[in-house]
Amino acid sequence: MGLLDVDRSDRADTAGGRGRSGAERSAPPEDSRYLTYAGYLHLDELLSLQQRRAGEHDEMLFIIIHQVYELWFKELLHELDYVEQLLGRDDLPTALHTMRRILTVLKVMVAQIDILETMTPREFLTFRNRLQAASGLESFQFRELEFALGIKRPGILERYPEGSEPRARLAQRLQRPTLWDAFLEHVDRSGFLVPRSALERDVTRPVEASGDVQDVLVHVYAESPTLAQLCERLVDLDEGLQEWRYRHVKMVERTIGAKQGTGGTEGAGYLRTTLSHPVFPDLWEIRTRL
Ligand code: HEM
Repeated sequence: MGLLDVDRSDRADTAGGRGRSGAERSAPPEDSRYLTYAGYLHLDELLSLQQRRAGEHDEMLFIIIHQVYELWFKELLHELDYVEQLLGRDDLPTALHTMRRILTVLKVMVAQIDILETMTPREFLTFRNRLQAASGLESFQFRELEFALGIKRPGILERYPEGSEPRARLAQRLQRPTLWDAFLEHVDRSGFLVPRSALERDVTRPVEASGDVQDVLVHVYAESPTLAQLCERLVDLDEGLQEWRYRHVKMVERTIGAKQGTGGTEGAGYLRTTLSHPVFPDLWEIRTRL
């Protein structure tokens, strides 16, 4: 359905089912009774949010790309929460469909790094000092994503002031089971006996490799092609996130070399330590046994 269709159904609702004259239908968009494209999307607000602190040309791209990433993070969280719910009610077909959407978004997120790489080191330097200590390191949605996938690090909360919204959101996510937990419960309900220690693990801790879970997963691959498909989509997700980290660190290396990050870390050196850590280690460990 296009936005204009939304527009019409909304008008019909507000008209209480009554028919409308041609004059009413062509009323100007600023009339608050009429939904418009700009109104529905809050374009006024959205397009006023790209404020360059240094007024430099390349700063526009830098702001927009970060804002777009934050929107994609929001969409990923929205869809991951949905997959968890779907697995909770054992709706595997819709969970697989939703995973496809998540993976497509992730591919776009990885590809978008190309756009940022059109910015040269000297172009970045025209406004870098105006960023002060601001850094992607502080992205609370990125940390929420990590938590939702099972990369739980309670210490991250300390980065956000007590009583702040990001800290409250992260504290709540920390207590919640992860996508991996929802997956294991679904596998268990599907007739594969997942060890209790894995089902009852402390969900505030990071997901860790388990030989017993790996044995179960080997059976899943041998006996259930549809569940095995879900496993493969989780591997795609894991690999996609690792790809994003790799592309991000390469972009950082070519843009700032070995300089420190604005967030106070060593920069590319720190980012390299985050590479090649799988989110779902068991799904990687079993590959040689499949
Ligand atoms: C010119 C562009 C960019 C540069 C030079 C850059 C640089 C850095 C550096 C040096 C760090 C390490 C932390 C620090 O000390 O600041 C970092 C972390 C991070 N950046 Fe970027 N970044 C860029 C673009 C982006 C974009 C577009 C995003 C998308 C949201 C992003 C998201 C992140 C995230 C999430 C982290 C934390 C990673 C982790 O702790 O695992 N960065 N960035």
